[in-house]
Amino acid sequence: MKKISVAIVGATGMVGRSFIKVLEEKNFDIENLYFYASERSEGQTLKYKDQEITVLKLCEQNIIGKKIDFAFFSAGGNISLEYANIFKKYGAVVIDNSSALRMNDTVPLVVPEVNPEDAFKHSGIIANPNCSTIQCTLPLKALSDIFGLKRVLFTTFQAVSGSGMKGVKDLEKTTLGETPQFYPHPIYNNCLPHIDVFLENGYTKEEMKMVNETRKILALPNLPISATCVRVPVLNSHSIEIVAELEKNFEMSEVIDALKSFKNIILLNDSEKNIYPLCTLATGRDEVLVGRVRRDLSIINSVRMFCVADNIRKGAASNAIQIMELFIK
Ligand code: A2P
Repeated sequence: MKKISVAIVGATGMVGRSFIKVLEEKNFDIENLYFYASERSEGQTLKYKDQEITVLKLCEQNIIGKKIDFAFFSAGGNISLEYANIFKKYGAVVIDNSSALRMNDTVPLVVPEVNPEDAFKHSGIIANPNCSTIQCTLPLKALSDIFGLKRVLFTTFQAVSGSGMKGVKDLEKTTLGETPQFYPHPIYNNCLPHIDVFLENGYTKEEMKMVNETRKILALPNLPISATCVRVPVLNSHSIEIVAELEKNFEMSEVIDALKSFKNIILLNDSEKNIYPLCTLATGRDEVLVGRVRRDLSIINSVRMFCVADNIRKGAASNAIQIMELFIK
């Protein structure tokens, strides 16, 4: 395996730190590792294995001549719009965690277990999908390949870590009875049916990301999908209820087999023993946990399931790093 040079843009943030952790765990042969953040963090050091690496201010001057092979971006959409092309110009493949470029026709949107082939169609930039979307595409692809998909409904229960440090701080502060600084209401003791901004159609931007990105990843542009996204007072890992209406008739055992045999799905589906996916079981893992699998009682040929994954790992850093692995393995 060839040595690679890697950059993390937004290295000081919650996802940025998770990039560092996952890179360490996977023990890649890294020649040079560069950390970028805002001017505020310039000169700070972050640890990678036993090295202290100095954080660079993000500016073109600090990118020239570095010969970066892969640049992971997690510093918000505006930074991606401004800097992805600059890294690309200097030879890097950008793997962008923001939503800014995901629906661009020339930018593949990739979940390695689902549509790895799309990654190779890139022209310098690959997008990492929305955290909730990533985890749902695994069970949906497992079912789609065998039974076909007719319609999908999502209801999410999303952790505060999905909002970065601001979300985590709001949970801490409102638990102590303090006023929220980030969410419009206290997240402590509430479920907020409001993630990202409201759009004219009555849905939020997060809900429409789930609709549009799922269609793009599964290459089913006309699949009817609808979503409700809810922020819940959980620190980490998103839980999602999926209702999938299938094209073909099925036996429940066939559905279970399809899910169980799909790469990186762990089936936790034993109600007699109270075994089902939980946030605390998913946190720290890269697999997607699926359980509570049962026939939907209201729509023919439909199945309901509960799907939980670590939104910072599989929903962000680990998925992006798995995209890089498609190229270096
Ligand atoms: P910084 O720590 O210097 O503000 P999170 O989503 O957890 O809040 O993290 C956001 C990440 O994006 C941080 O690493 C943050 O760096 C980085 N970031 C924010 N604004 C900029 C900017 N203008 N230029 C470069 N990095 C930025």
